[in-house]
Amino acid sequence: MKKLTRILSLIMVVALIATLFGGCSQKRDLDKIKESGKLIMLTNAAFPPFEYTENNKVVGVDVDIANEIAQELGVKLEVQDMDFDFIVDYVKKGKGDIGVAGMSVNDERKEQINFSVEYITSTQFVIVPTGTDTASFELDGKVIGVQEGTTGDVYYASDPEVIKAKEVKKYKSAIDAAADLKLGRVDCVMIDEMPAQNIVKQNESQLICYNAGYEPESYAIAVAKDNTELLNVVNKVLNRLLDEGKIDEFIVAHS
Ligand code: ARG
Repeated sequence: MKKLTRILSLIMVVALIATLFGGCSQKRDLDKIKESGKLIMLTNAAFPPFEYTENNKVVGVDVDIANEIAQELGVKLEVQDMDFDFIVDYVKKGKGDIGVAGMSVNDERKEQINFSVEYITSTQFVIVPTGTDTASFELDGKVIGVQEGTTGDVYYASDPEVIKAKEVKKYKSAIDAAADLKLGRVDCVMIDEMPAQNIVKQNESQLICYNAGYEPESYAIAVAKDNTELLNVVNKVLNRLLDEGKIDEFIVAHS
């Protein structure tokens, strides 16, 4: 009996150690990033003008910013396109160095990762078919398309205390949601201001958008909590770009 207890406690100790180490992020600190010669940016490239694909390459305002950070570090930028709702977890686990995805700062995300200084302010817009009277358009009772895991999804469309939607359809991107809007499968799409305007611009004869009137949101770059040195570099570059008016220039170039 004693032996069994001993074996059992040994198993428990091993399990505990495994959990402790398994839970640690494989931190890529500044030295590791420089050694590897690349900075890994995680994004979801269906959010123009911040990130979108052109000739099979991910480009946009956020890519321009990340390139400046890579340059500051003297390394190459590697962009990984993925589902938006996994970015925070991947950054937390060290599967990428920076999450740059027009990501709005909020408390839930702050518990998982650190945010840089804020570099853009935005708000939620609603896309509807042309001819819709936006002044009287009500979100309550509607089938609303959103990009899964975005603020438009979590804080607005999917929160019955804010909007009593008939149904919320969750898509991998607002572009996919807008495609369904054109087919009449949703009544409207909720997404951030500039991406909404961009989508409308691509579909001028079919779609229009308007400000939904909710709180302003601020975009920042996500960095793993234990990666303070990297966060300092990110902030230094962002502050310089903001001072020089470069971010506005990037927006103009991608709009
Ligand atoms: N700003 C919104 C959020 O943080 C939407 C961001 C979506 N970004 C993207 N690259 N698809 O939730």
